[in-house]
Amino acid sequence: MSSNRPNHSIPRVSPRAYAYVQEVLNFGFHNAHSVGMTARLEREFAARMGQKHGIAHCNGTATLQSALLAAEVGVGDEVIVPAFTVFSTPAAALQCGAVPVVADVDSQTWTIDVADIRRKLSPRTKAIIPVSICGLMPDMDPIMEIAGEHGLVVIEDNAQGYLCEYQGRLSGSIGHFASFSFQASKTLTCGDGGILISSDDALALKARRAATIGFRDLSIRPGDTVVPEELRCRPDYKRHSSLGWNQRLPEVACAVALAELERIDELVAMRVACGEAFNEVVDRCDWLRPQRVPPGYRHTYWTYPVKIERDDVPWSEFRRRFVELGGDGFYGAYCPAHLEEVFGNLTEAIRTQPERYPHWAPYWPDYGEGLCPVWEAIQPKIAMLKTNYFDTNEIEQQADVFERTIRSFS
Ligand SMILES: Cc1ncc(COP(=O)(O)O)c(C=O)c1O
Repeated sequence: MSSNRPNHSIPRVSPRAYAYVQEVLNFGFHNAHSVGMTARLEREFAARMGQKHGIAHCNGTATLQSALLAAEVGVGDEVIVPAFTVFSTPAAALQCGAVPVVADVDSQTWTIDVADIRRKLSPRTKAIIPVSICGLMPDMDPIMEIAGEHGLVVIEDNAQGYLCEYQGRLSGSIGHFASFSFQASKTLTCGDGGILISSDDALALKARRAATIGFRDLSIRPGDTVVPEELRCRPDYKRHSSLGWNQRLPEVACAVALAELERIDELVAMRVACGEAFNEVVDRCDWLRPQRVPPGYRHTYWTYPVKIERDDVPWSEFRRRFVELGGDGFYGAYCPAHLEEVFGNLTEAIRTQPERYPHWAPYWPDYGEGLCPVWEAIQPKIAMLKTNYFDTNEIEQQADVFERTIRSFS
């Protein structure tokens, strides 16, 4: 494959991260004071993504748990999640004592299907978690409309969705909450971490407390994760007014995440360059179908998913040849969420010991096959190509291998 694009490479870790980490280390670790990296990260991240408040977390699963806790989602409630997601999304609902209700995906975009959300609403529905899967946002306007009609909280799961766009709006700027992950494979990473953003003052404050063991005297001010010493030192001081987890992100990690945030456009541009190079290859093939990007959307390609539509090209043989020709490997799409073994095991446990699961027993749905037929049919045929390259030469080389792999089946 030939390309006229000039070669471009960026470092794997932002050079600024070293200086910011050094600042944290020079200051040292103190109970009540810090050099302010959490505050800077929370302020700058929320502003960049179009919300008022940011709450740094230890990962992008914890963010979902805090959001659900803040929205008072619990026993007897249902949370609608898509069938195509990482298990963190339904797990967060389960961990709050709620029941995840799995909605099917659109047959072209593979994001949550709005019609199936409507079908799966019930009087117990309390929240929806739409996911920007692979870097493509779901159809957010009708989702927000449904939420408005039924008084639901919408938590955007953008672990994979940095700077995606939907009708001129950025991922993270639409839901009542939006969650992001800084895990090692993500577009913005500090190894592990995450952040929750919101413009709702009351919800954001509740999420701050949910992420910080329910300390009463915390505010939503950036970086306000520690109760002032004058209060905390007193023997008559009652510290905890609500139930919360402890999900803070260490300052060292905040320092790295802040440096990466400051070059987020560059990080996203690399992923998009890779997505576009793969798109050019797929455009020349009539049996590979990419994720459809509707008009008005920007896909930012956390990964590049493509559906193999030829029955005589098995997924495993396609991967074998890709690797043999010098490809970097690729992943299959995650098992449809409702077919993960954990649901089967919980179903069995609830059936045999209902007294141990009184919070779920009356509400537990059937998670069997057939619940999300669209995604169940597509999922086995998906190849998710890696896009985490930091050098456009490497991207061109992978695109070339991809093209030669396709040709090997002609
Ligand atoms: C869609 C989605 N949601 C949530 C998460 C959870 O993020 P973390 O690994 O930071 O907990 C991930 C991470 O893989 C993800 O891809």
